[in-house]
Amino acid sequence: MSVFNDAIANLLGPIKDLLDDPGVSEVMINGPFEVFVEKKGLVYKTENQFPNEDALISAMRAIAQSVGRVIDADNPRLDARLPDGSRIHVVLPPMAKNGTTVAIRKFSKEKLTLNDLIDFGSLSKTAARFLDICIYLGKNIIVSGGTGSGKTTMLNVLGSRIPKTQRLLIIEDAAELQVKAEHVVNFETRKADPTRGVEEVTIRELVISAMRLRPDRIIVGEVRGEEALDLIQVMNTGHDGSMGTVHANNPIDACTRLETLCLMGDTKIPPDAVRKMVASAMQVIVQCSRYHDGGRRTSHISEIMGLDANGNYISRDIFRWVQTGKDPDTGKYQGEMVPCNYVPSFFEDIVVNKLPFPKSNFLSPDWYNEIKKQAA
Ligand SMILES: Nc1ncnc2c1ncn2[C@@H]1O[C@H](COP(=O)(O)OP(=O)(O)O)[C@@H](O)[C@H]1O
Ligand SMILES: [Mg+2]
Repeated sequence: MSVFNDAIANLLGPIKDLLDDPGVSEVMINGPFEVFVEKKGLVYKTENQFPNEDALISAMRAIAQSVGRVIDADNPRLDARLPDGSRIHVVLPPMAKNGTTVAIRKFSKEKLTLNDLIDFGSLSKTAARFLDICIYLGKNIIVSGGTGSGKTTMLNVLGSRIPKTQRLLIIEDAAELQVKAEHVVNFETRKADPTRGVEEVTIRELVISAMRLRPDRIIVGEVRGEEALDLIQVMNTGHDGSMGTVHANNPIDACTRLETLCLMGDTKIPPDAVRKMVASAMQVIVQCSRYHDGGRRTSHISEIMGLDANGNYISRDIFRWVQTGKDPDTGKYQGEMVPCNYVPSFFEDIVVNKLPFPKSNFLSPDWYNEIKKQAA
């Protein structure tokens, strides 16, 4: 628990074992007497308790103070990153009805690799090679998914596959990505701190700076505000191969979400035009999903084909994860990632660049064709 100084460590005594346990990825405190943890994707209730509400609040106040922030009746919510990269979010009563409510997302230094994702069965070898090709060809890629579905992990893995000769500018709210490449520039936003006269520096401002710093590609860790418009413009103006993550449940939803975010800014661009811009910027969407068995998998790799005559986004699945069963002992889903009988529109680029990826790799296996026939 080297993250915290001794005083804080003492105050956090009631949950010390959880913070120390490398198997615990998240600690959730719902008032002093209820502590849950996430382990391997599943949430469990623990026996841990704080003696009372005061003890819990004191611990949170000390944490806030240690990162130069305040949590009190006037500032009843805290969103902070701890020195080791862990994230903490706190909401105080009376907003929090259970008592002081906290989630600590522990930062894991061991980043997963492309091979790990393949070993876990969250990505097939063929799909991984396909993604490699998309990156090589400079396709714009949006990683979409819910909270904790593996978006940042996926973006990290994909970013590390970018050709070494290129200059990457990475912009994040909290520096989480550790893209392994030769020429990387990392930017992190700054929160306002009125008590010290510190002004905010937003993702949006940093994207604008990044554009002026001769990027080959721009990566925005998490697109969740007006910066969506800047990223879309980056993607539409020749910085092919830019990437970001967005909070959405499926590939079309990811487009809609980006569109909504673009319109949040005080933009003079009409909504129809924004939709067209999003549709033309989007090329490949990698959808991450967290399943009920706790498993995180790449549920779709899809191509966005623009808009149809009614102005709706057109998305075509290239690969999908298909469940075929359930292990009776562990409850874990069985299944695999299959191609969907769809050859992406840029297949010619694959041929022209002599990339070893035959068209037959896009053909579904017979068993999946059979499933689809039965389901039709
Ligand atoms: N494919 C995967 N299989 C198992 N665990 C994963 C996988 N992808 C991510 N994780 C783990 O899940 C947690 C959340 O992942 P993260 O990438 O931060 O999600 P998000 O950015 O969507 O919130 C991390 O602890 C990460 O190591
Ligand atoms: Mg993330």
